[in-house]
Amino acid sequence: MELLSLSLREFRCFAAAELEFAPTINLIIGKNASGKTSLLEAIFLLGRGRSFRTPHLGALTRTEASGFQLIGKITSQSVPVIIGLARTTGLLEARIGGQRTESLAQLAQTFPVQLIDSQAHQLIRGGPRQRRQFLDWGVFHVEPAFFPIWRRFQRALQQRNALLRTSRPQREVDSWNGELAATGQLLDGLRRNYLANFSATAANWAERALGGLKTSLEYQAGWPVGRDLSEALQESTTRDRKAGLTQVGPHRADMAIKVEGRMAQERVSRGQEKVLAGALLLAQTSIYRMLTGHSCTLLLDDLAAELDVGHLIRFMEMVAETHAQVHITAVEAPIMVAQQAAQVFHVKQDEITAMV
Ligand SMILES: Nc1ncnc2c1ncn2[C@@H]1O[C@H](COP(=O)(O)OP(=O)(O)OP(=O)(O)O)[C@@H](O)[C@H]1O
Ligand SMILES: [Mg+2]
Repeated sequence: MELLSLSLREFRCFAAAELEFAPTINLIIGKNASGKTSLLEAIFLLGRGRSFRTPHLGALTRTEASGFQLIGKITSQSVPVIIGLARTTGLLEARIGGQRTESLAQLAQTFPVQLIDSQAHQLIRGGPRQRRQFLDWGVFHVEPAFFPIWRRFQRALQQRNALLRTSRPQREVDSWNGELAATGQLLDGLRRNYLANFSATAANWAERALGGLKTSLEYQAGWPVGRDLSEALQESTTRDRKAGLTQVGPHRADMAIKVEGRMAQERVSRGQEKVLAGALLLAQTSIYRMLTGHSCTLLLDDLAAELDVGHLIRFMEMVAETHAQVHITAVEAPIMVAQQAAQVFHVKQDEITAMV
Protein backbone atom coordinates (compact mmCIF):
# COMPACT_ATOMS: atom_id res chain seq x y z
CA MET A 1 0.00 0.00 0.00
CA GLU A 2 1.28 3.43 -0.91
CA LEU A 3 0.18 6.84 0.17
CA LEU A 4 -0.66 8.72 -3.02
CA SER A 5 -1.72 12.02 -1.49
CA LEU A 6 -2.16 13.71 1.86
CA SER A 7 -4.20 16.69 2.89
CA LEU A 8 -3.60 18.33 6.27
CA ARG A 9 -5.78 20.89 8.05
CA GLU A 10 -4.75 22.56 11.30
CA PHE A 11 -2.20 19.84 12.03
CA ARG A 12 0.88 20.88 14.10
CA CYS A 13 2.41 23.91 12.30
CA PHE A 14 0.35 23.42 9.11
CA ALA A 15 -2.84 25.44 8.66
CA ALA A 16 -3.53 23.73 5.32
CA ALA A 17 -1.32 21.67 3.04
CA GLU A 18 -1.76 19.26 0.13
CA LEU A 19 0.91 16.79 -1.02
CA GLU A 20 1.10 14.33 -3.91
CA PHE A 21 3.60 11.55 -3.25
CA ALA A 22 5.65 9.30 -5.48
CA PRO A 23 5.04 5.57 -4.92
CA THR A 24 8.79 5.12 -4.41
CA ILE A 25 11.15 7.48 -2.53
CA ASN A 26 9.95 10.86 -1.26
CA LEU A 27 12.46 13.24 0.26
CA ILE A 28 11.27 16.00 2.61
CA ILE A 29 13.87 18.71 3.14
CA GLY A 30 13.68 21.68 5.51
CA LYS A 31 15.44 23.56 8.27
CA ASN A 32 14.96 22.73 11.96
CA ALA A 33 11.39 23.37 13.12
CA SER A 34 10.07 23.64 9.55
CA GLY A 35 7.59 20.76 9.95
CA LYS A 36 9.39 17.68 8.55
CA THR A 37 8.72 15.36 11.49
CA SER A 38 5.16 16.69 11.69
CA LEU A 39 4.56 15.44 8.14
CA LEU A 40 5.82 11.97 9.04
CA GLU A 41 3.73 12.12 12.20
CA ALA A 42 0.62 12.82 10.10
CA ILE A 43 1.35 9.80 7.88
CA PHE A 44 2.05 7.59 10.91
CA LEU A 45 -1.19 8.73 12.53
CA LEU A 46 -3.16 7.75 9.43
CA GLY A 47 -1.87 4.19 9.71
CA ARG A 48 -1.74 3.72 13.46
CA GLY A 49 -4.31 6.10 14.95
CA ARG A 50 -1.67 7.38 17.37
CA SER A 51 1.38 9.61 17.32
CA PHE A 52 4.97 8.45 17.87
CA ARG A 53 5.76 11.70 19.66
CA THR A 54 2.99 12.17 22.19
CA PRO A 55 0.10 10.29 23.78
CA HIS A 56 -1.81 13.62 23.86
CA LEU A 57 -3.65 14.00 20.59
CA GLY A 58 -4.56 17.56 21.60
CA ALA A 59 -0.90 18.52 21.05
CA LEU A 60 -1.36 17.76 17.33
CA THR A 61 -3.95 20.47 16.74
CA ARG A 62 -2.43 23.72 15.50
CA THR A 63 -2.22 26.23 18.33
CA GLU A 64 -4.94 28.61 17.13
CA ALA A 65 -7.32 25.88 15.94
CA SER A 66 -9.92 23.72 17.69
CA GLY A 67 -9.26 20.45 15.85
CA PHE A 68 -7.28 18.89 12.99
CA GLN A 69 -8.12 16.83 9.93
CA LEU A 70 -6.04 14.49 7.81
CA ILE A 71 -7.14 12.86 4.57
CA GLY A 72 -4.94 10.35 2.80
CA LYS A 73 -5.44 8.51 -0.47
CA ILE A 74 -3.76 5.12 -0.44
CA THR A 75 -3.67 2.21 -2.83
CA SER A 76 -4.90 -0.99 -1.28
CA GLN A 77 -4.44 -3.96 -3.63
CA SER A 78 -4.29 -1.51 -6.55
CA VAL A 79 -7.61 0.10 -5.54
CA PRO A 80 -7.56 3.68 -4.22
CA VAL A 81 -8.96 4.03 -0.69
CA ILE A 82 -9.51 7.25 1.24
CA ILE A 83 -8.54 7.25 4.92
CA GLY A 84 -9.62 10.18 7.07
CA LEU A 85 -8.77 11.14 10.62
CA ALA A 86 -10.29 14.09 12.41
CA ARG A 87 -10.16 15.43 15.93
CA THR A 88 -12.92 17.91 16.51
CA THR A 89 -14.70 17.32 19.80
CA GLY A 90 -11.67 15.99 21.64
CA LEU A 91 -12.16 12.52 20.18
CA LEU A 92 -10.35 11.00 17.25
CA GLU A 93 -12.65 9.92 14.42
CA ALA A 94 -11.31 7.55 11.81
CA ARG A 95 -12.87 6.77 8.44
CA ILE A 96 -11.86 4.17 5.90
CA GLY A 97 -13.51 4.53 2.49
CA GLY A 98 -16.06 6.94 4.00
CA GLN A 99 -17.11 4.50 6.77
CA ARG A 100 -16.52 5.31 10.44
CA THR A 101 -14.29 2.82 12.20
CA GLU A 102 -13.57 2.41 15.89
CA SER A 103 -10.95 -0.22 15.18
CA LEU A 104 -7.34 0.89 15.11
CA ALA A 105 -6.52 -2.67 14.05
CA GLN A 106 -8.52 -2.14 10.86
CA LEU A 107 -6.71 1.14 10.24
CA ALA A 108 -3.37 -0.57 10.71
CA GLN A 109 -4.35 -3.38 8.34
CA THR A 110 -5.49 -0.92 5.69
CA PHE A 111 -2.38 1.26 5.83
CA PRO A 112 0.68 -0.37 7.43
CA VAL A 113 3.43 2.09 8.30
CA GLN A 114 6.82 1.64 9.92
CA LEU A 115 9.00 4.37 11.38
CA ILE A 116 12.65 4.82 12.13
CA ASP A 117 13.47 8.02 13.99
CA SER A 118 15.80 9.33 16.70
CA GLN A 119 14.25 6.84 19.16
CA ALA A 120 15.00 3.82 16.97
CA HIS A 121 17.88 2.75 19.22
CA GLN A 122 15.26 1.93 21.89
CA LEU A 123 14.54 -1.27 19.99
CA ILE A 124 18.05 -2.35 20.93
CA ARG A 125 18.67 -0.47 24.18
CA GLY A 126 15.13 -0.14 25.57
CA GLY A 127 13.10 -2.67 27.53
CA PRO A 128 11.41 -5.85 26.28
CA ARG A 129 8.16 -3.97 25.52
CA GLN A 130 9.71 -2.29 22.47
CA ARG A 131 10.94 -5.58 21.07
CA ARG A 132 7.62 -7.32 21.77
CA GLN A 133 5.72 -4.55 20.01
CA PHE A 134 8.12 -4.77 17.11
CA LEU A 135 7.73 -8.54 16.85
CA ASP A 136 3.96 -8.36 17.22
CA TRP A 137 3.71 -5.77 14.44
CA GLY A 138 4.99 -8.46 12.09
CA VAL A 139 2.85 -11.27 13.51
CA PHE A 140 -0.28 -9.07 13.47
CA HIS A 141 0.23 -8.16 9.82
CA VAL A 142 0.88 -11.63 8.45
CA GLU A 143 -1.29 -13.76 10.73
CA PRO A 144 -5.02 -12.87 10.87
CA ALA A 145 -5.55 -15.17 13.88
CA PHE A 146 -3.19 -13.13 16.02
CA PHE A 147 -5.32 -10.10 16.91
CA PRO A 148 -8.49 -11.88 18.18
CA ILE A 149 -6.37 -14.22 20.30
CA TRP A 150 -4.28 -11.33 21.60
CA ARG A 151 -7.48 -9.55 22.66
CA ARG A 152 -8.77 -12.65 24.49
CA PHE A 153 -5.41 -13.00 26.22
CA GLN A 154 -5.37 -9.33 27.29
CA ARG A 155 -8.89 -9.59 28.71
CA ALA A 156 -8.02 -12.71 30.74
CA LEU A 157 -4.79 -11.07 31.92
CA GLN A 158 -6.58 -7.93 33.08
CA GLN A 159 -9.18 -9.99 34.97
CA ARG A 160 -6.55 -12.14 36.64
CA ASN A 161 -4.42 -9.12 37.59
CA ALA A 162 -7.45 -7.33 39.02
CA LEU A 163 -8.23 -10.38 41.20
CA LEU A 164 -4.58 -10.66 42.29
CA ARG A 165 -4.87 -7.19 43.77
CA THR A 166 -7.91 -8.13 45.89
CA SER A 167 -8.24 -10.53 48.81
CA ARG A 168 -10.49 -12.86 46.77
CA PRO A 169 -9.74 -16.58 47.18
CA GLN A 170 -6.95 -18.08 45.07
CA ARG A 171 -9.37 -20.32 43.19
CA GLU A 172 -10.94 -17.21 41.62
CA VAL A 173 -7.53 -16.09 40.40
CA ASP A 174 -6.82 -19.61 39.14
CA SER A 175 -10.12 -19.73 37.29
CA TRP A 176 -8.49 -17.49 34.62
CA ASN A 177 -5.43 -19.73 34.25
CA GLY A 178 -7.10 -21.97 31.65
CA GLU A 179 -8.00 -19.14 29.26
CA LEU A 180 -4.69 -17.39 29.90
CA ALA A 181 -2.67 -20.53 29.22
CA ALA A 182 -4.69 -21.51 26.14
CA THR A 183 -4.50 -18.09 24.46
CA GLY A 184 -0.95 -17.53 25.71
CA GLN A 185 0.31 -20.77 24.16
CA LEU A 186 -1.42 -19.86 20.88
CA LEU A 187 0.22 -16.41 20.81
CA ASP A 188 3.55 -18.04 21.53
CA GLY A 189 3.04 -20.47 18.65
CA LEU A 190 2.18 -17.66 16.23
CA ARG A 191 5.23 -15.67 17.30
CA ARG A 192 7.46 -18.71 16.86
CA ASN A 193 6.02 -19.38 13.38
CA TYR A 194 6.68 -15.80 12.39
CA LEU A 195 10.22 -15.91 13.75
CA ALA A 196 10.93 -19.06 11.77
CA ASN A 197 10.64 -16.85 8.66
CA PHE A 198 11.92 -13.66 10.18
CA SER A 199 15.05 -14.57 12.18
CA ALA A 200 17.32 -15.61 9.33
CA THR A 201 16.22 -12.74 7.07
CA ALA A 202 16.66 -10.23 9.90
CA ALA A 203 20.13 -11.57 10.72
CA ASN A 204 21.11 -11.23 7.05
CA TRP A 205 19.87 -7.68 6.71
CA ALA A 206 21.46 -6.69 10.01
CA GLU A 207 24.78 -8.23 9.07
CA ARG A 208 24.84 -6.33 5.79
CA ALA A 209 23.89 -3.05 7.44
CA LEU A 210 26.61 -3.49 10.06
CA GLY A 211 29.25 -4.21 7.45
CA GLY A 212 29.57 -7.94 8.22
CA LEU A 213 29.08 -8.17 12.01
CA LYS A 214 27.34 -11.43 12.87
CA THR A 215 23.84 -10.88 14.26
CA SER A 216 21.31 -13.27 15.76
CA LEU A 217 17.88 -13.14 17.39
CA GLU A 218 16.80 -15.33 20.28
CA TYR A 219 13.15 -15.45 21.24
CA GLN A 220 12.25 -15.72 24.93
CA ALA A 221 8.67 -16.82 25.49
CA GLY A 222 8.04 -15.09 28.83
CA TRP A 223 8.03 -18.21 31.00
CA PRO A 224 10.63 -20.91 31.83
CA VAL A 225 11.83 -23.07 28.96
CA GLY A 226 10.37 -26.59 28.90
CA ARG A 227 7.31 -25.62 30.95
CA ASP A 228 3.67 -25.42 29.89
CA LEU A 229 2.26 -21.96 30.51
CA SER A 230 -0.39 -23.48 32.81
CA GLU A 231 2.35 -25.09 34.93
CA ALA A 232 4.32 -21.85 34.96
CA LEU A 233 1.21 -19.94 36.11
CA GLN A 234 0.69 -22.39 38.96
CA GLU A 235 4.32 -22.14 40.01
CA SER A 236 4.25 -18.37 39.96
CA THR A 237 1.21 -18.02 42.27
CA THR A 238 3.07 -16.68 45.33
CA ARG A 239 5.14 -14.21 43.31
CA ASP A 240 2.04 -13.04 41.42
CA ARG A 241 0.16 -12.43 44.67
CA LYS A 242 3.06 -10.43 46.06
CA ALA A 243 3.44 -8.32 42.93
CA GLY A 244 -0.30 -8.03 42.26
CA LEU A 245 0.58 -8.92 38.66
CA THR A 246 0.87 -12.03 36.53
CA GLN A 247 4.61 -12.55 36.20
CA VAL A 248 4.71 -15.20 33.48
CA GLY A 249 3.20 -15.32 30.00
CA PRO A 250 3.62 -13.96 26.48
CA HIS A 251 3.21 -10.42 27.83
CA ARG A 252 6.69 -10.94 29.31
CA ALA A 253 8.27 -12.21 26.08
CA ASP A 254 11.46 -10.72 24.68
CA MET A 255 13.75 -11.11 21.72
CA ALA A 256 17.44 -11.00 22.58
CA ILE A 257 19.38 -9.28 19.81
CA LYS A 258 22.99 -10.39 19.70
CA VAL A 259 25.92 -9.05 17.70
CA GLU A 260 29.08 -11.16 17.46
CA GLY A 261 27.68 -13.34 20.25
CA ARG A 262 27.12 -10.48 22.73
CA MET A 263 23.99 -8.57 23.65
CA ALA A 264 23.76 -5.86 20.99
CA GLN A 265 23.48 -2.99 23.48
CA GLU A 266 26.83 -4.02 24.95
CA ARG A 267 28.51 -4.37 21.60
CA VAL A 268 27.45 -1.67 19.14
CA SER A 269 27.77 2.13 18.91
CA ARG A 270 24.81 4.51 18.90
CA GLY A 271 25.01 4.92 15.12
CA GLN A 272 25.22 1.13 14.73
CA GLU A 273 22.17 0.77 17.01
CA LYS A 274 20.22 2.96 14.64
CA VAL A 275 21.43 1.03 11.61
CA LEU A 276 20.69 -2.29 13.32
CA ALA A 277 17.17 -1.22 14.34
CA GLY A 278 16.63 0.07 10.81
CA ALA A 279 17.83 -3.19 9.29
CA LEU A 280 15.45 -5.23 11.49
CA LEU A 281 12.65 -2.97 10.38
CA LEU A 282 13.57 -3.37 6.73
CA ALA A 283 13.67 -7.13 7.23
CA GLN A 284 10.13 -6.95 8.58
CA THR A 285 9.04 -4.88 5.61
CA SER A 286 10.52 -7.42 3.26
CA ILE A 287 8.97 -10.42 5.09
CA TYR A 288 5.62 -8.62 5.11
CA ARG A 289 5.86 -8.20 1.36
CA MET A 290 6.95 -11.80 0.85
CA LEU A 291 4.11 -13.25 2.94
CA THR A 292 1.26 -10.91 1.95
CA GLY A 293 2.25 -9.61 -1.48
CA HIS A 294 1.78 -6.01 -0.25
CA SER A 295 4.32 -3.43 0.75
CA CYS A 296 4.22 -1.14 3.76
CA THR A 297 5.17 2.52 3.89
CA LEU A 298 8.47 3.44 5.55
CA LEU A 299 9.01 6.69 7.41
CA LEU A 300 12.65 7.62 8.00
CA ASP A 301 13.11 10.72 10.14
CA ASP A 302 16.42 12.51 9.87
CA LEU A 303 18.41 9.37 9.21
CA ALA A 304 21.44 11.37 8.10
CA ALA A 305 21.76 12.99 11.55
CA GLU A 306 23.58 10.05 13.14
CA LEU A 307 24.88 8.09 10.18
CA ASP A 308 28.02 8.75 8.21
CA VAL A 309 27.76 8.78 4.44
CA GLY A 310 29.01 5.18 4.09
CA HIS A 311 26.41 3.75 6.45
CA LEU A 312 23.71 5.94 4.97
CA ILE A 313 24.46 4.85 1.41
CA ARG A 314 24.50 1.17 2.40
CA PHE A 315 21.26 1.60 4.30
CA MET A 316 19.53 3.43 1.44
CA GLU A 317 20.58 0.65 -0.94
CA MET A 318 18.81 -1.80 1.34
CA VAL A 319 15.78 0.48 1.60
CA ALA A 320 15.51 0.48 -2.20
CA GLU A 321 15.55 -3.35 -2.19
CA THR A 322 12.40 -3.50 -0.06
CA HIS A 323 10.43 -1.79 -2.88
CA ALA A 324 8.47 -0.02 -0.15
CA GLN A 325 7.24 3.53 -0.47
CA VAL A 326 9.58 5.71 1.58
CA HIS A 327 9.22 9.17 3.13
CA ILE A 328 12.58 10.39 4.33
CA THR A 329 13.30 13.74 5.98
CA ALA A 330 16.58 15.61 6.13
CA VAL A 331 17.91 19.04 6.98
CA GLU A 332 20.30 18.61 4.11
CA ALA A 333 20.17 15.41 2.13
CA PRO A 334 23.43 13.90 0.91
CA ILE A 335 23.56 13.98 -2.89
CA MET A 336 23.26 10.23 -3.14
CA VAL A 337 19.95 10.20 -1.23
CA ALA A 338 18.67 13.16 -3.21
CA GLN A 339 19.47 11.32 -6.44
CA GLN A 340 17.43 8.32 -5.35
CA ALA A 341 14.35 10.41 -4.55
CA ALA A 342 11.54 10.40 -7.09
CA GLN A 343 9.87 13.38 -5.42
CA VAL A 344 11.44 16.12 -3.32
CA PHE A 345 9.56 18.52 -1.05
CA HIS A 346 10.93 21.65 0.55
CA VAL A 347 9.25 22.58 3.83
CA LYS A 348 9.50 26.17 5.00
CA GLN A 349 7.44 27.76 7.76
CA ASP A 350 4.27 25.83 7.16
CA GLU A 351 4.63 25.94 3.36
CA ILE A 352 5.48 22.87 1.35
CA THR A 353 6.83 23.12 -2.16
CA ALA A 354 7.07 20.07 -4.37
CA MET A 355 10.13 20.17 -6.64
CA VAL A 356 9.56 18.60 -10.01
N1 LIG B 1 0.29 22.16 17.89
C1 LIG B 1 1.16 22.96 17.27
N2 LIG B 1 0.74 24.13 16.72
C2 LIG B 1 1.61 24.93 16.08
N3 LIG B 1 2.90 24.64 15.90
C3 LIG B 1 3.37 23.51 16.42
C4 LIG B 1 2.53 22.59 17.12
N4 LIG B 1 3.28 21.55 17.52
C5 LIG B 1 4.51 21.77 17.10
N5 LIG B 1 4.59 22.96 16.44
C6 LIG B 1 5.74 23.59 15.79
O1 LIG B 1 5.87 23.00 14.52
C7 LIG B 1 7.18 23.22 14.03
C8 LIG B 1 7.63 22.00 13.27
O2 LIG B 1 8.02 20.97 14.15
P1 LIG B 1 8.70 19.63 13.61
O3 LIG B 1 9.08 18.84 14.77
O4 LIG B 1 7.81 19.04 12.59
O5 LIG B 1 9.99 20.26 12.88
P2 LIG B 1 11.16 19.53 12.09
O6 LIG B 1 11.21 20.12 10.73
O7 LIG B 1 11.05 18.07 12.20
O8 LIG B 1 12.43 20.07 12.91
P3 LIG B 1 13.82 19.36 13.32
O9 LIG B 1 14.72 19.39 12.10
O10 LIG B 1 14.34 20.25 14.39
O11 LIG B 1 13.53 17.98 13.80
C9 LIG B 1 8.01 23.64 15.23
O12 LIG B 1 8.26 25.01 15.16
C10 LIG B 1 7.11 23.34 16.41
O13 LIG B 1 7.34 24.21 17.47
MG1 LIG C 1 12.24 16.66 13.16
